[in-house]
Amino acid sequence: DGTNTRYHIGVSQCSDDEWRHKMNKEMQREALFYDGVQVEFRTAKDNNQYQINDINYFIDRKVDLLIVAPNEAAAITPSVEKAIKKGIPVVVVDRKILSDNYTAFVGADNYKIGSDVGHYIVSRLNGKGNIFEVTGLQGSTPAMERHRGLMDALAGIPNIKRVGSVDGGWLQSQAGEKVDSVLRVHKDIDLLFAQNDRMAIGAYLAARQQGREKEMLFVGVDALPGKDYGLEQVISGVLDATFIYPTGGDKVMQIAMNILEKRPFEKENILSTALVDKTNARVMQLQTDHILEQDGKIEKLNGQIDEFWSRYSAQTMFLYACLVI
Ligand code: FRU
Repeated sequence: DGTNTRYHIGVSQCSDDEWRHKMNKEMQREALFYDGVQVEFRTAKDNNQYQINDINYFIDRKVDLLIVAPNEAAAITPSVEKAIKKGIPVVVVDRKILSDNYTAFVGADNYKIGSDVGHYIVSRLNGKGNIFEVTGLQGSTPAMERHRGLMDALAGIPNIKRVGSVDGGWLQSQAGEKVDSVLRVHKDIDLLFAQNDRMAIGAYLAARQQGREKEMLFVGVDALPGKDYGLEQVISGVLDATFIYPTGGDKVMQIAMNILEKRPFEKENILSTALVDKTNARVMQLQTDHILEQDGKIEKLNGQIDEFWSRYSAQTMFLYACLVI
């Protein structure tokens, strides 16, 4: 309720989707373990100018710490540097900026994800075939790094050809529309790699519209648990494989609190990734289901504590009233 707020943390998310929601939820839940932490979320809906406005809003509010997932690196770098100049620590998450002028970074190694995808493709296609790439938003660092990793992994493999690519902007609908036209031109694609699961699903649906979804394999990134997300799509056979892109919201909040409470912290915090295919998707699902259940319990417990406190203070008020009368 803000009455005993010790720290006001601003979170500027570049996008608004299931991956961001999971991360925000993790940050919010982790914040419950500290006293007096207020977390305020804003989302820029994939728009650089909106995100610049959001960061200015937080700077004007004089937040104690900023968490930023930069939409496009070049556009958002000056805003992060502005906050740092004003003395506000900034934790950059998932996507990077163009300088090292930030307090800490938390996120996975996207170059490695791209190169893991490349090695997977080589073995899955036995070293021979045509692949098509659907990239994320061009100016965002995971799009650049996943692409570079992929190309480096395929460099020594002459018979795997990347026959083309489109920018799907990280969005299912944009990827679907573009792949719809791509498929009319390209008649021989063995594997379509989309840089996230949402776009891979969009591509799959476009192929299915044309009755061609069985002609190629679809590979994505994220492996989110939950209805119709990446993990389930591997189990149902829509996706051939995906790679875990950890949201890590709890870790982000721990580092933010270390910074605020002057405890030691690492500047670079790299979260790990892993391949998810039909051999392990089911096991992962059992575990994520269990985690979801535990998360629900933590939230329930927190609700009970809140209720206890409001009842306690109501009773104290009543007692006090009796005394003065
Ligand atoms: C979520 C998302 C993920 C992707 C990541 C890249 O907003 O689009 O699907 O892996 O961002 O930054």
